[in-house]
Order: sequence, then C-alpha cells, then structure tokens
Amino acid sequence: MAGNETLSARNRNSADEFYTALRDVEAELRHYRDQLRGKVVFCNCDDPYESNFFKYFAMNFNHLDLKKLIATSYAGSPITGEQLPLFELEGLRHTRPIRKVFKVEITEVPDRNDDGAIDLLDIEDLLRHDGNVVTPLQGDGDFASPECVALLDEADVVVTNPPWSLIKPFITLLAEHETQFLVLGDQNFITYREIFEQILANNLWFGYNNGGTKWFRVPEDYEIKTESRKKIVDGVKYFSMGRAYWFTNLDTTKRHDELPLYKRYSPEEYPTYTNYPAIEVSRVTEIPFDYDGEMGVPITFLDKYNPDQFEIIGNSKWLGRPIADFAKKGTYEQGGMRFYIPTGDGTHRRLYERIVIKRIGAAS
Ligand SMILES: C[S@@+](CC[C@H](N)C(=O)[O-])C[C@H]1O[C@@H](n2cnc3c(N)ncnc32)[C@H](O)[C@@H]1O
Repeated sequence: MAGNETLSARNRNSADEFYTALRDVEAELRHYRDQLRGKVVFCNCDDPYESNFFKYFAMNFNHLDLKKLIATSYAGSPITGEQLPLFELEGLRHTRPIRKVFKVEITEVPDRNDDGAIDLLDIEDLLRHDGNVVTPLQGDGDFASPECVALLDEADVVVTNPPWSLIKPFITLLAEHETQFLVLGDQNFITYREIFEQILANNLWFGYNNGGTKWFRVPEDYEIKTESRKKIVDGVKYFSMGRAYWFTNLDTTKRHDELPLYKRYSPEEYPTYTNYPAIEVSRVTEIPFDYDGEMGVPITFLDKYNPDQFEIIGNSKWLGRPIADFAKKGTYEQGGMRFYIPTGDGTHRRLYERIVIKRIGAAS
C-alpha cells in the first residue's frame, strides 16, 4: 500500500484533486431543492474543511430542509497533510481536528450567534463546540471502506465531485446500493462501459450545467500547460475545464423537454455506416424527424436526451451485440471499434464516438 506521500504526489497530477467552486455547486444544486427536502445527504469525497459541497449544504441546511448532512475526508488527499492550507475554507481553518480523517454529521444548524442568519460563523461554532458533530473515522475514509459504505446505506443522496480515476468503482458502488446521486465528472465517462450500461438502463443521465468553463482549484504543483486554462488568485491555483458534466439519477425537467426536429431524411445528407446499419447524424440538432431506423449521433446528444422521445440502442464501441469490425488494417484498433462512412473515393473515414438511437414510435 502506498504511503500518503506517494499517493499525494500521484494525485496532485490527476483530476482526482480538482476542487469544485462554490458557484458551480450553487448553480447546479438550485434545481433539486424539492428532491432534497427531508433527505440525508452524504458528501463522501469531501473534507468538510475544504469542500464547497459541504459548505453549500451546511449553509443551506435549514433552507433545504435537510434531515442530515454527512461528509467524510480521505487520508490520501494531499490537503489532509496540510500541504495546501489555503484550500481550507475561510472561517473553518482553526476548527480542523488534529486527527486527520474524520466524518462530520449534522442534524441541525441553529443560529448559534443569534444574528438572525445561518452563516459560516454558525457552522464554525457547531464544529468547534458540538462534540457529536465531528468524529474520527477508523479507516482511511475510502468511499468503498465498510464504515463509509455503512454511511452510504444511511444516506438518501450522494452529492460530490469524486476522484475521477475511480469513477467506475464509484458509480458501480452507488448502483449496487441503489443510492440517488448527483456527481460531477468528465464528459468522457460516457464512453466507459460501466457508465454507459447505467445510461442504457435509464439509471443515469445528466444534470443542468454540463460543459462550459468551470474553474477548479488545484494543488500548487499541478502542472498546467495551457496558459489560458490557468489562473492564480490570492496564491491559489485554478484550472479551467470545459468537459465537466453532472451525472445524476435525480429527475430533471430537462430530460422531459422534446428536442425540436426539423430536418427531413435524405440518403445523400445522412450516409449509412460502412460497418453498421445506421445513418450518420453529425449534429444533434439535425436528427431527421422522419427516419425510422437507427441513427448515430455525437455523445453531446445525451445532454438533450428525453427517454420519451428517443430510445438509446448502444454506442459505436459497444452495442450489446457484435458489429462488423471494418478496421482490420491494424491502424484503427486503438480505442476499439467505431463507425466508418464511405468517403466516395473507395476509402472509409473513421468517426468519433457515436451514440446509437432510434425515435420512439418509429416504424420498426
Ligand atoms: C475531484 S476531488 C474533489 C474534492 C471535493 N469533492 C470537491 O468537489 O471540491 C476528489 C477528492 O476525493 C479524494 N479521494 C481520492 N480517493 C478517494 C477515495 N478512495 N475515497 C474517498 N475520497 C477519495 C481526493 O483526495 C479529493 O479530495
């Protein structure tokens, strides 16, 4: 087992240590207020002293009418070694317990300083003076450890930005425990079989604020090659990401919106793949309203997916059944199978990842 130092060094250069901005948490969470009322919320990859997920739920505990808020920290995180003290939330800095791996459980947030509002000072007072709120964990705070899984079973909803390198076991664990979740991740997770299976089964879809620029705090020594994606404010380093998506199984109004379809099918405009009997639709907005068969669309389709309008059949890597592997030349094997379209000069062009869909109500 790697020591904390080795683990931290590795983590510092991965998306496992991207810390979410409060503005991004607020912008997404404002859509789920009704679904969170009376619920036990668990932030299971969230050191309460640095996580804006914890901060958001603690500050809005009464407003959201939560039953309980639980947050657990992780021993492998570089911030637990206090190498990144600036990460700690302003105001909570001095209440951090000596013991580094712990859980915070909150069942009420009183206005302890009697100023008529719940703010960080009330949270600080609660953490500092209520002995039942902050308790040490026995293990390292791994989300899959028995004590964290027991908390998962107590929880109604998990809300966090988890370590991205562990997204497959993370989502699998939530599915096994039938937990509701709202999790920030990378758009590319869609192409992972474990995640795609959940999408196919209609057990996972997307939240509201997907893509667009989001700034994440990163450790000081996190290497950022592109200058425009880097900023340093008050000595804290930030990295911008355009592919961060919210993955959830909480209902959204968005997934009930119909995508307007205005284009008519023609074989010239929508070529059929060389290696699979579906047509290529290179823009989500150009899905033809009158095509009854299977269609390949870019993965951004999933952000617009309404299960009453379309059925998802598979993706170009994995359809749940074999497709002809056209690319036997050896040059196209990396990353697995994809679709090809004829170029007209006897060769075939390999496309980016595609989602295969069919219109609901299409003639079979
Ligand atoms: C992407 S960061 C996000 C942190 C925080 N949730 C936020 O949004 O600001 C993921 C966090 O999970 C921690 N972590 C890594 N492996 C973990 C594990 N196996 N169990 C629990 N937490 C883990 C990392 O150290 C890091 O603090």
